[in-house]
Amino acid sequence: MVDSAYYTGRTGIVTGANSGIGYAVSEELLKRGAVVYMAGRSPEKIAKAAARLSAYGDRVRTLIMDVTKQEQVQKGIEGTAAEAGRLDFLFNNAGVGGTMPFEQATLEDWKTIIDANLWSVIYGVHAAVPIMLRQGSGHIVNTSSIAGIIPPPFQALYSLTKYGVTGMTECLRYEFAEKGLHFSTICPANIATPIFNKGIDGRTYGELKIPDDAYPVEKAASLILDRVSEWKGIIIVPEDPNTDAWKGYVLGDRAVEERLYRMAHDRREAFEKSGTYF
Ligand SMILES: NC(=O)c1ccc[n+]([C@@H]2O[C@H](COP(=O)([O-])OP(=O)(O)OC[C@H]3O[C@@H](n4cnc5c(N)ncnc54)[C@H](OP(=O)(O)O)[C@@H]3O)[C@@H](O)[C@H]2O)c1
Repeated sequence: MVDSAYYTGRTGIVTGANSGIGYAVSEELLKRGAVVYMAGRSPEKIAKAAARLSAYGDRVRTLIMDVTKQEQVQKGIEGTAAEAGRLDFLFNNAGVGGTMPFEQATLEDWKTIIDANLWSVIYGVHAAVPIMLRQGSGHIVNTSSIAGIIPPPFQALYSLTKYGVTGMTECLRYEFAEKGLHFSTICPANIATPIFNKGIDGRTYGELKIPDDAYPVEKAASLILDRVSEWKGIIIVPEDPNTDAWKGYVLGDRAVEERLYRMAHDRREAFEKSGTYF
């Protein structure tokens, strides 16, 4: 059952809070009564995003951290817990997208995306768990992807990082349950955010074209916080029809496999035509 008081008076950090899902989750946390440390790597971008939420007064705080830098993540998380007196939530949301043919990926590309999407989450968890263990409570919410439970062709780099996030988070969920800690994995699919023209380096390429059928980001944030309050482990957003696709994939459903083969064909055709992965 959704716990509407789960966030009231509690303190949380959201990484990648200046944009997309991170911004929407920050706003939704504020609506639900939390104190929110909005974390971003660009002081200008995070200040601008926090200013848009100034109606929530001093419950909106900012934090500068590049999640690929362990010292910054450690300092940011420990500093927040010291200032606020506790840390109830950590949303490891920051990350980059990545769709590209395997042949085009350099080893540097693999390292870049692993830093941004996997080491970032490891750094966050590594810093937050000792604090939460001392408190005897806390909830860590790591953002994976639908590509962290179903492997989309042409997303081997991205999918590697997101499967890593899913696996790690699920393990820790059971490992720390008796210590009062909770873990959730967010698996978004096609949410309307600026991610669609960003490369694995976080830079934007060409014009932003959000797919017509993309799910509204505010609805995604609300669903995420509802399911987190229910202590759900894997949270697929939106739930339908992705949950059925996931179950079908795990069970070796031929129809789901056919869709993945078709996606591979279409993406290769598009790539061979344009020579780019956007
Ligand atoms: N939208 C979807 O359909 C979808 C689907 C599956 C998974 N996801 C996941 O959801 C999460 C949020 O993505 P989004 O869709 O909201 O995209 P977004 O609007 O592009 O937001 C990504 C955020 O992550 C931040 N970020 C990236 N690298 C960072 C770094 N090294 N240090 C600190 N911040 C960094 C970005 O900061 P800058 O603005 O400074 O670059 C931005 O604030 C990501 O983990 C993504 O993989 C999204």
